This record gives sequence, C-alpha cells and structure tokens, in this order.
Amino acid sequence: MSNEIPQAEATTIVIFGATGDLTQRKLIPALFHNRKKGRLWDRTRIVGVARRDWSDDFFREHLREGVRRYGGPFDEKAWAEFAPRIRYVRGDLEVPEDYHEVDRRLREIEGKPANRLYYLATAPEFYGPACDYLAAANMTAETEGWRRIIIEKPFGHDLASAVALNHRVHQSFREHQVYRIDHYLGKETAQNILFLRFANTLFEPVWNRRYISNIQITVAEDVDVGTRGGYYDQAGVVRDMFQNHLLQLLSLVTMEPPASLDANAVRNEKAKVLGNIRAIRLEDAVRGQYEGYREAARVAPDSQTPTYAALKLYIDNWRWQGVPFYLRSGKAMAARGSSIIVEFQAPPDVMFGLARNQSFTPNMLSICIQPEEGVHLRFETKVPDTIAESRSANMDFSYRKAFPDIVLPDAYERLLLDAIKGDASLFARADGIEIAWRLIDPILAGWEEHPERSPLHIYPRKSWGPAAADELLARDDHEWRLGCGEDGCWI
Ligand code: BG6
Repeated sequence: MSNEIPQAEATTIVIFGATGDLTQRKLIPALFHNRKKGRLWDRTRIVGVARRDWSDDFFREHLREGVRRYGGPFDEKAWAEFAPRIRYVRGDLEVPEDYHEVDRRLREIEGKPANRLYYLATAPEFYGPACDYLAAANMTAETEGWRRIIIEKPFGHDLASAVALNHRVHQSFREHQVYRIDHYLGKETAQNILFLRFANTLFEPVWNRRYISNIQITVAEDVDVGTRGGYYDQAGVVRDMFQNHLLQLLSLVTMEPPASLDANAVRNEKAKVLGNIRAIRLEDAVRGQYEGYREAARVAPDSQTPTYAALKLYIDNWRWQGVPFYLRSGKAMAARGSSIIVEFQAPPDVMFGLARNQSFTPNMLSICIQPEEGVHLRFETKVPDTIAESRSANMDFSYRKAFPDIVLPDAYERLLLDAIKGDASLFARADGIEIAWRLIDPILAGWEEHPERSPLHIYPRKSWGPAAADELLARDDHEWRLGCGEDGCWI
C-alpha cells in the first residue's frame, strides 16, 4: 500500500499534554520525519495544548531540541520549513470552558474548516474527562471534516475500568473515530509478521500444532524503572507490557489470515484468537521483582509489584490446540531484546543413529523485533567430512544488511500517519482491549489472593529473571531460547 495521502485537505493535529516528554521525544520527531518524506500534505498544522504559559516560539524551540536529540541527524533546512506549522495554545484539560477557548483559537488558526486529529498525550486520568469536554464544546462532531482521537496506553487499569473508559469514550466519539495506540504494532518487525506468514507459501502450511512444538515471546529490557516508580508501582509488568504489547504480538503470530488488511478484518481475527486463549492457571504465571526495586523513588518499601513475569498459555482452537505459548518480559534484565521464537517439532531419529540422550536441535524461526531487527531460520546441517554428525546453522535475514539505505522508522511515524489516513488496522479496538484485560485480571487477582500459589521471586539485576521461569518450561521438557541482541541472533 502506498504512503500517499489521497485527499489534499487541511488537517490539524491537536496534542493535549503537549509540554510533556512524549511530544518532544516521539510525536514531533515522527511528524517531522513524515513531513520530510513528503507524507504530510502542505495544509497540515500542529497545535500543542497544555497548561503552561508558553509562546509559539518557546514551544517550537523546545520541540526543536527534541528533534535534535531524539530524531536522528538534524536537518536545519527541513526544520525551518516545518516549524511554522506548529502553534501553542494554553488550556487546562480539567477546565471545561478552556475547551471552548481552544476551539475558538483552533478555528482562528485554521481559517477554513479542517479535519482534526486529537492526541491525548496526557496522564490516563484525563482520558475520560477530555473526551467529555471535547464533546461538550462541540469539538467531536464530523460536520466540517473528520474528527479522530488517539488515546495512549494504559487503557484502563483492569477489565472494569477499561469497560467504563470505552463506554465513556463512546459517549463522545463513535468507534471509527477512536485510535487506541500500542506502539509495538508500529514497529517495522511487528508489521512484518503478517507478511512473513501470509506473503510466503513456505511457512503457513507448517504454522500449526502438527509442526510447531512451542512458541516463545520475550520482551526483555535492560533498563530498570528509572524515574517512573510512581506509575510503575501501581501498574507492574503485566499491566505495563503483557495486557498490550505481548498479547498484541501473540495475536499477530497466531491469528487466522484476514480476508484483507482492512482494519476491521484484521481486528476481527485478532479478537477471535485472543478470545480463544484458555484461562491462565496461577501455577503457570511466574512473577519476579529485581533486587533493589523497592529503593527506587516513589516505590513502596514493601512493594509486591512484579517487574518480571513469565506466563504459559494455550489457545483452544483447531490450529493451536495443545501448543504451549511462553511469554516473558522484565526490567533490569541481562540484555535488551525482543523476539518471537517459533520452535518446530524435532524429527524422528530413524536413520542417523544418534547416541542415547542425544537429539537434533529442533528447527527454529526467530523473529527479532529489536534491537537488531531480522528473521533467522535455524536448521541442522551435516558437518563436512564426518559420517553423520550434525550441527545447527542459520539462514539470516537482517534489515540492516538487506536494506542498508533505509533507516527503520520509529513506530510513531507509521502510527501517526495511519491515523491521519484513517487506517486503524494497527490500533486496538474496544473489544480487543477488553478481551486482553479479561485474561489478565484473574492473574493479578490470584497473585493478591493466593500468593502462596505463585510467590514473588526476587531476581538479580542483569539476569534472565527467576529460576522459577526456567522451571515453568522444564516441566514441559522445553527451555527458553535466547532471542536476539545487539550482536545479532543468539539462538
Ligand atoms: C512502554 C512501557 O509501553 O513500553 C515501558 O510503558 C517500556 O515500561 C516500553 O519500557 C518499552 O518500549 P520499547 O519500544 O522501548 O521496547
């Protein structure tokens, strides 16, 4: 599909919470790159709204610094062309009257009717009120152009709050106007999963319970909670990473082929497969906390919040019956690396006469999401000049080597562009969010009510998490396969 925007209309991107980190680090660099690549048409404006009393110039200067710092090599000329489209409007999210004033200023800036994309780059407690007040100020009706809203994560804190938030958002916006962002879906390698599976004939025939022994998804971070203790101690790794990013990756790997890449076709299939996940047993949910976490700022001294979790789950449908899926994510781990490893079944040994207790390494397909993006297929090969000795070898695809001239775009670049184009296929739909919480809620409740069934393990920093997570796989005669790191593939 082309990246061109079909209609040449005026569009205003209105960022609420514009003085925060996200705007400076991610949103403006992404919009800047899109403009540089000719993907934002001329009549696009960006208006930041926040409480502070900033001028247009001060705001632009602050954003320029962000693009310099986080946006790759800085292009002065391109910035000079881009900056005048940015404006700043003062407004307090909690004050309903301010929305009327923001609307008045927007109309003044726009001159003629324009489409609007609202971006809630705010703390989650403002998502509901902001929707109410936008509607009350008549800023959501699509009479003079489209009106869309991007809502950041976390979308709810549990199932009940997510349902309530969906309900509240739907009082002001229709579902087709709502874009719930999950930045993992904008990562190039995550988008490539459907291509790998369905644009090749090689993989699909074996992508099922008959040939796959297990699938592992790892999202490991080497950083700790840093300064985000206040938020993180309330959330923990399951809400922060599993409810959204890991389950989204899982749905891409396991969903049935949609009839098209249309947003609803894709999201119907995702909802179906997530809906088929069997309730996760507490014994299959390992939790850990890295040593020293409780000393971080704004973390409770006796905090039970997990910074690591490993889950085993099953999908009860024809394709996946009986295949275990192992998902893990943690902070302060040995390395940064996100990967999906598909482990195939081992072949029968009838002809090679392997010694007792010896077996072939199973074939593995590893999809490396970051930091070294690529796809690797591990297979067995005969060692030259031996009779029947085998060794594992890799067929490697590395984005860096295959596309040396292309800098992989940041996830927000793709996602913002899609929202402007009206393509919601990489955004979560209301039902998808709720299905994910329905899976997660019982684990969080179980940890609280029956801690003895799944105790909190303290793990050393720079490790791969608690030993209990290894035992989880060992019970099934499986082991964690290392994913991908800075130096390429580790499997
Ligand atoms: C965010 C989480 O959604 O994703 C963070 O809130 C986490 O805790 C981050 O660090 C990881 O994203 P990435 O793109 O760096 O893997």
